[in-house]
Amino acid sequence: MPRFYDSRKRILVTGGAGFLGSHLVDRLLDQGHEVLCVDNLFTGTKRNIDHLHNHPRFEFMRHDVCFTLYVEVDEIYNLACPASPIHYQHDPVQTTKTSVHGAINMLGLAKRLKCRILQASTSEVYGDPAVHPQTEGYWGNVNPVGPRSCYGNRGKRPGLGTGGSGLGIGVSLNGHIL
Ligand SMILES: NC(=O)c1ccc[n+]([C@@H]2O[C@H](COP(=O)([O-])OP(=O)(O)OC[C@H]3O[C@@H](n4cnc5c(N)ncnc54)[C@H](O)[C@@H]3O)[C@@H](O)[C@H]2O)c1
Repeated sequence: MPRFYDSRKRILVTGGAGFLGSHLVDRLLDQGHEVLCVDNLFTGTKRNIDHLHNHPRFEFMRHDVCFTLYVEVDEIYNLACPASPIHYQHDPVQTTKTSVHGAINMLGLAKRLKCRILQASTSEVYGDPAVHPQTEGYWGNVNPVGPRSCYGNRGKRPGLGTGGSGLGIGVSLNGHIL
C-alpha cells in the first residue's frame, strides 16, 4: 500500500538506470509514486533497476533524450547525461547533444504538460573555479576547448540557459537531489 496514495504522481526520471537516477527511482517508488524510467543505457545498466522488474508502479523505456518524447507525467527529473570523465569524453559531441538537446526536449515536455522539472547539472559549469564555494552570482572560470567543456560549459551551461524561458526550473549541481 503506498504511503501517500492521495498525492500519487506519475514521475518521469531520465537517466533512471544510472547511479543517481536509480536511487531516485527507488525513493520515488517508496513514496508511493508511479515512475517512468527513461534511459538509453549508455552508462546506466539494467542491473541498477533489475529489482524493480515486477514492480506494479515502475516502467522502463529505452530511449535517447536527444529525441522528442511524448509521455503524460506530472513531474520530470532530467538526469540523463554521462557524468564521469571517461564516459563524457568518449564522445564529446554526443555528450553536448545529450545536455543541450536533452534539456530542450525535457523542458519542451514540461512546458506542454505544465509540470515541474528538475534539471541535473554539475559544478563543472564553473570550470576550474577561482571562488569557493560558488554563489549564483559567480560566472566561473572556464576553458571552452578543454576536455571537460563538452560536459560543463558547452553542455550543461547551454542546457541550463534554456531554463530562462519562463519555466520554473530546479537545478541540482552537486548531486544532493535526494
Ligand atoms: N554523480 C555525481 O556526483 C553528480 C554530481 C553533480 C551532478 N550530476 C548529474 O547527475 C546526473 C546523473 O549523474 P550520474 O552520476 O547518475 O551519472 P550516470 O552516468 O550513472 O547516469 C546517467 C544516466 O543517463 C543515461 N543517459 C546518458 N545519455 C543519455 C541519453 N542521451 N538519453 C537517455 N539516457 C541517457 C545513462 O545511460 C545513465 O543511466 C547527470 O546529469 C550529472 O551531470 C552527477
